[in-house]
Amino acid sequence: MAAVLEFAGVTVRKGRATLLDEIDWTVEEDERWVVLGPNGAGKTTLLQVASAQLHPTTGVAGILEEVLGTVDVFELRPRIGLTSAALAERIPRGEAVRDVVVSASYGVVGRWREDYDDLDHGRALELLEELGVKHLADRTFGTLSEGERKRVQIARALMTDPELLLLDEPAAGLDLGGREDLVSTLSVLAMDADSPATVLVSHHVEEIPPGFTHVLLLRDAQVVAAGLLDQVLTEQNLSETFGMPLVLQHAGGRWSARRRQRRTTIH
Ligand SMILES: Nc1ncnc2c1ncn2[C@@H]1O[C@H](COP(=O)(O)OP(=O)(O)OP(=O)(O)O)[C@@H](O)[C@H]1O
Ligand SMILES: [Mg+2]
Repeated sequence: MAAVLEFAGVTVRKGRATLLDEIDWTVEEDERWVVLGPNGAGKTTLLQVASAQLHPTTGVAGILEEVLGTVDVFELRPRIGLTSAALAERIPRGEAVRDVVVSASYGVVGRWREDYDDLDHGRALELLEELGVKHLADRTFGTLSEGERKRVQIARALMTDPELLLLDEPAAGLDLGGREDLVSTLSVLAMDADSPATVLVSHHVEEIPPGFTHVLLLRDAQVVAAGLLDQVLTEQNLSETFGMPLVLQHAGGRWSARRRQRRTTIH
């Protein structure tokens, strides 16, 4: 099984701040990872390295059997599907949904060429259908709800048939129904053997879709624990990651967490 990501001692520094501190991490092609950690832990920075947008200050980042820094990133990036708030902001609000998706095959945001072939349009519609938003193909991106936009972004990220799919907080800003719909969709993707290796960044264990296999817990730029979900996602590790005593439950394939209440004595 080939490693899709192979990080060894990956460290990112900006000025005097250490954003990632000696990260060792391997993702194999049949794995689906969730990265959990509090605000500022370094999750987005980790995805920036994994998507070849940011080079480590020290350490080695292996991506799709290439080593970042020794490879043309413009050849590497189309092999990686990425969704993030920063990318979403760059999508023109007046762009038709089908074009938001189809233009990914040219690695551009904003439709600027007219010669996408029929195959690409067919593929874009297929992906919109898979994500449950085919009926929105002719709407403009700016008219969509937050949840609909997230789905379109994921369809766009899948358009190039990436070997690695990176999702930075795809459920942020969704209401309960929207979150549950997205978790189901991601679960279907996760269980499909043809889906690419996937890394999903989140703050909430409730957002872990059934079918995800591994977890990386990040706190203060460092890995608290990483490995198989069932072994690593423990009350102790999660409490350490979020810096508070937590109660963790796992039922019906889903996880939930809440603060452990102190016992109060009633007189
Ligand atoms: N250019 C920079 N200079 C200094 N510090 C930075 C810089 N960019 C990011 N940081 C800091 O690095 C840390 C990690 O940022 P990152 O965006 O990776 O966190 P995150 O885990 O994605 O957080 P969130 O859950 O809030 O999205 C944060 O404390 C952030 O303020
Ligand atoms: Mg982030």
